[in-house]
Amino acid sequence: MDVKKAIEKRRSIRKYQDKEISDDLIKELIDAARLAPSGLNTQPSKYLVVKDSEIKNKLRENGIFSQDFVYQASAIIVCCADPGAYKERSEKFDNPNEIRAIRDLSIASSFLVLRATELGLGTCYVGWINREKIRDILDIPRDYRIPYVITVGYPAEQPESTSRKNIDEILL
Ligand SMILES: Cc1cc2nc3c(=O)[nH]c(=O)nc-3n(C[C@H](O)[C@H](O)[C@H](O)COP(=O)(O)O)c2cc1C
Repeated sequence: MDVKKAIEKRRSIRKYQDKEISDDLIKELIDAARLAPSGLNTQPSKYLVVKDSEIKNKLRENGIFSQDFVYQASAIIVCCADPGAYKERSEKFDNPNEIRAIRDLSIASSFLVLRATELGLGTCYVGWINREKIRDILDIPRDYRIPYVITVGYPAEQPESTSRKNIDEILL
């Protein structure tokens, strides 16, 4: 599958088959994210992969996600941005470290979801999360930002494409 096809084929998938994805596939996804560019090659992104059903149950008991489909996904990839990674880097740009780190994570996540699409996997970004609680339960450092998680699994739906603005609406 070429990149254009993957871009066109990707959808947010909110229904998953009851089928595990292998650790090798998860590694493929993280590797795609790893190869993404970042400012000054700082690579401030970190990923925590939840596959274990006991941990998913703990997240559910604590109401971490408001949408039940998240718990049905084979894997929940908690996407973290570490602004501290930029601390020692050039400050000559007018851009806070937090924004730089989240920006880089977002670029890397795009690589991840497109690679998942190519591998026949479904993904969905989920920003509707209880950030403080997930941090405590999964022991994620306090200074990391958690803008979203990405669910991954074998799709059990093929949604129609959602609408997009026309090119002349987004071209300044
Ligand atoms: C940063 C981000 C956060 C999102 N958060 C959620 C979410 O919490 N729950 C959800 O169901 N979808 C979420 N989505 C998915 C969007 O609703 C979806 O991408 C959009 O409607 C376009 O549909 P498509 O992804 O199928 O093209 C999120 C997407 C992004 C990029």
